[in-house]
Amino acid sequence: MLKIVVMVSGGGTNLQAIIDSVKNGMITNTGIAGVISNNKNAYALKRAEENGIPARCISPKYFETREEFNEKLLAAVKEFRPDLVVLAGFLVVIPPEMIAEYRNRMINIHPSLIPSFCGKGYYGLKVHEAALERGVKVAGATVHFVDEGTDTGPIILQKAVEIEQGDTPQTLQRRVMEQAEWKILPRAIELIANGKVRVEDNRTVIEE
Ligand code: GRF
Repeated sequence: MLKIVVMVSGGGTNLQAIIDSVKNGMITNTGIAGVISNNKNAYALKRAEENGIPARCISPKYFETREEFNEKLLAAVKEFRPDLVVLAGFLVVIPPEMIAEYRNRMINIHPSLIPSFCGKGYYGLKVHEAALERGVKVAGATVHFVDEGTDTGPIILQKAVEIEQGDTPQTLQRRVMEQAEWKILPRAIELIANGKVRVEDNRTVIEE
């Protein structure tokens, strides 16, 4: 049984997709051990509570130094003894110690087809604003392992989404979430939970 911890900062629609997928069998062999947020007002925490999932809020605001926060965040994650850490819209920089501890056992969902529109400063609506500004015809989402870079770890799954005439950053974000994020993040967890993903030369090999 793969034990996962899901880390969130906002609405938690990706967390909800994971919860629903465990319930309906799209994700097997997996249990959600806990949810951690840096934002006490994150609706994702309510979703955890409604589904009986233990949740913790650890905010950098609670600590004198970033080092202290980093230490407490890693300790909170380790308390759940996860096999996999899932970053689902978690907007805080992951401490290097945590990346080392969970190398190739920590995944992130990014709302673009990496390597487009990713890296420092590309998060949330900014990603979709940049895509529309560039005039791309296809957008999408990526699930990747987390390494020391920003959105640079081995790619696990990607799913493309058509840009439609008249799209705004908001309409595009919604379509990317509905048609891509909420599908490939649960799928990636299902593959990992059943031993179908390995990393070779910093690229993934997937046994479908
Ligand atoms: C999603 O768009 C995800 O791609 C990005 O942050 C957002 C999180 O949304 N990383 P939610 O909290 O899962 O609704």
